[in-house]
Amino acid sequence: MRMTVIGTGYVGVVHAACMADIGHDVLGVDIDEGRVAALSEGKAPIYEPGLNELLARTVRSGRLRFSTSTTDAARFARLHFVCVGTPQVRGGEAADVSHVDAVVDSMAPHVQPGSLIVGKSTVPVGTTARLGARLRAVAPHSEIAWNPEFLREGFAVADTRRPERIVVGVESRRAEAVLREIYQPMLISGVPFFSTDPATAELVKVASNAFLATKISFINAMAEVCDAAGADVVTLAEAVGADPRIGHRFLQPGLGFGGSCFPKDIRAFAARAEELGAGEAISFLHQVDEINTRQRRRTVDLARHLVGGSFAGLRIAGLGAAFKPESDDVRDSPALDVASAIRREGAEVRVHDPEAVDNARHRFPGLQYALDVPKACEGADLVLHLTAWPEYREISPAELGSVVRNRQILDARATLDAASWRSAGWTLSALGRPKITGMYTD
Ligand code: UGA
Repeated sequence: MRMTVIGTGYVGVVHAACMADIGHDVLGVDIDEGRVAALSEGKAPIYEPGLNELLARTVRSGRLRFSTSTTDAARFARLHFVCVGTPQVRGGEAADVSHVDAVVDSMAPHVQPGSLIVGKSTVPVGTTARLGARLRAVAPHSEIAWNPEFLREGFAVADTRRPERIVVGVESRRAEAVLREIYQPMLISGVPFFSTDPATAELVKVASNAFLATKISFINAMAEVCDAAGADVVTLAEAVGADPRIGHRFLQPGLGFGGSCFPKDIRAFAARAEELGAGEAISFLHQVDEINTRQRRRTVDLARHLVGGSFAGLRIAGLGAAFKPESDDVRDSPALDVASAIRREGAEVRVHDPEAVDNARHRFPGLQYALDVPKACEGADLVLHLTAWPEYREISPAELGSVVRNRQILDARATLDAASWRSAGWTLSALGRPKITGMYTD
């Protein structure tokens, strides 16, 4: 089927390439000319496993092209996916849907009769209904549906090819039929398909992210209790998660969540619920957010405590800059938040990351950067493990011990093997693990 994908960020570029890969004829549209030029040569704008190969293949096949014009898009197809960003509004908690509105408004006068616009962006509940009315006023025979995206960064291609579920919020049987047809290869392979009204579909997305964020903050709240009670949060999480009704996933304690989705999505959800008069029902999301932010502060506090009360004049190493492993994304990265807070208190902070150094340097030019772990840790008074890249678990504590000034590491992701670090003469500390640290109880 012919389709356009408007917005070539994480969601759009992967969706466009995967749709072309399963045989559809796709035009990707973005206002960024540089990005469109690179994409037209099959070059991915982001680090995402498998994406470069997929783009190169689908562009070469002729089934994937790119343009900067939404009028081209309106002419190209009668099916349009909207994948533009919905960041947090400046100075507020709600989602800024102006980019989504602008796409629909600019397309509306040009769409072919009978067009279907399908939103994939994360939006406040009620957006489809609001935009549907606006579209119909200009293009009476066209309609809007919502098909939220659940892909995780770092697994974007795999998640798009084989999603856990496909959710579509539609106002007509025809819209549902079109979406069933385009996702047919996934449906044949057994991916569950939920067809519902637009409001429910919009809510499935934000409810899913809110639940996962709550699970992370829950275990981090337990870490605070463990610190107070002299218990160990890592063992606690393993034992609690062994109950299959709870499960281990997203029960990893540590520095908490960041990135372009969870923090802004839970705030936007709470703000929208407030507008709808249901704010009280999900007021706990404010606490989820607060617990998450507190983890960053507590990590800085623990680090300061470990170096004797002041960072002034010290050299601190930060392992990790991305908001999570397998990603080069540094948006709202807890790792960089902690690193820059420590720098502001007078330390020289040198950061390593396997993929995100370029992005980090761009946003945090005041930090120093190193291309390998020993360089980052040279002469360090304290090493901070801030992003759980698998390669950091492979570090030899004995070898790294020979480059630092103090064999002291704060495992802010609670994934390092404490015993092997300690047996190489290191002091390893972690929030929620007072017995491991043996020194942090307040
Ligand atoms: C998240 C969701 O997992 C996706 O389903 C969703 O589509 C996406 O947001 C979105 O709304 O676009 P993503 O932001 O890529 O995906 O990252 P996650 O893997 O969910 O991790 C989010 C944050 O939680 C990371 O900072 C990660 O380090 C942290 N995390 C995750 C924990 O602190 N503990 C855990 O146990 C798991």
